[in-house]
Amino acid sequence: MKTIVREGGGPAEIAGPKGAERPTSGPLKGRGSDRSTHPVEKMSRSARFWDRNAERYSKSPIADEAAYQRKLQITREYVRPDMAVLEFGCGTGSTAILHAPYVKHIRAIDMSSKMIEIAQRKADAQKVENVTFERSAIEELGVAGQAFDAVLGLNVLHLLEDKEEAIAKTYRMLKPGGVFVTSTVCLGETMKFFKVIGPIGKFFGLMPTVRVFTTKDLEKSLTDAGFDIDYQWQPGKGKSLFSSVFIVAKKADETA
Ligand SMILES: C[S@@+](CC[C@H](N)C(=O)[O-])C[C@H]1O[C@@H](n2cnc3c(N)ncnc32)[C@H](O)[C@@H]1O
Repeated sequence: MKTIVREGGGPAEIAGPKGAERPTSGPLKGRGSDRSTHPVEKMSRSARFWDRNAERYSKSPIADEAAYQRKLQITREYVRPDMAVLEFGCGTGSTAILHAPYVKHIRAIDMSSKMIEIAQRKADAQKVENVTFERSAIEELGVAGQAFDAVLGLNVLHLLEDKEEAIAKTYRMLKPGGVFVTSTVCLGETMKFFKVIGPIGKFFGLMPTVRVFTTKDLEKSLTDAGFDIDYQWQPGKGKSLFSSVFIVAKKADETA
């Protein structure tokens, strides 16, 4: 079975890219079935999936390097050197490490300990000191008040059991005027059938939780949570089954 693609691809790919544009590569390592319905058990099954596939994911190339670079560039237009940033679902840390010179600090979390291990290894090798990598699911992250100027959730919202909850939490964690930068594969337009095959793949342990929704659904989730969409771009729209939508959503600053 062909799988991993970054930013639009197979399970780990559908599951997500490194910046969301990865080509299809080899098979993902499946193991066992997913009969559980308890959210915590479902999450730990997803974490095990990512643990098994972390090394492979870290070596898979970015499918659309130009789009990835542009997303980095746009993100940098929204950050400053005094800013505190959270990235959830940071994977192997490449994006956090690239943004590190432009901000004060990045707290980068991922539910997979293997992903975090690889990310930490990379940060150590590159002597990056202002990124803290931490194994944590977004759902279990404890943050007091409005702690961040920017939150990044790249190629991860479609992998969550409840993206609305994560978006609402992100809103609460942001300072007024803060931004949520997300790149998300919206399979609802191009791969509706994934609603059927996704659970089968998950049953056999071949893929993690993958939710199917449209770009419009995502926009609505963001605006319902209180965000204003400040920037939106969908490279590869109409060309790739896995093209992801890149959005910068802003929390209003009532004090401004
Ligand atoms: C497709 S990868 C994307 C990694 C990185 N953001 C990128 O763009 O390359 C998805 C990552 O999200 C993580 N993930 C999935 N669900 C998560 C959750 N509930 N909380 C934190 N991380 C999660 C996975 O472990 C995996 O590393």
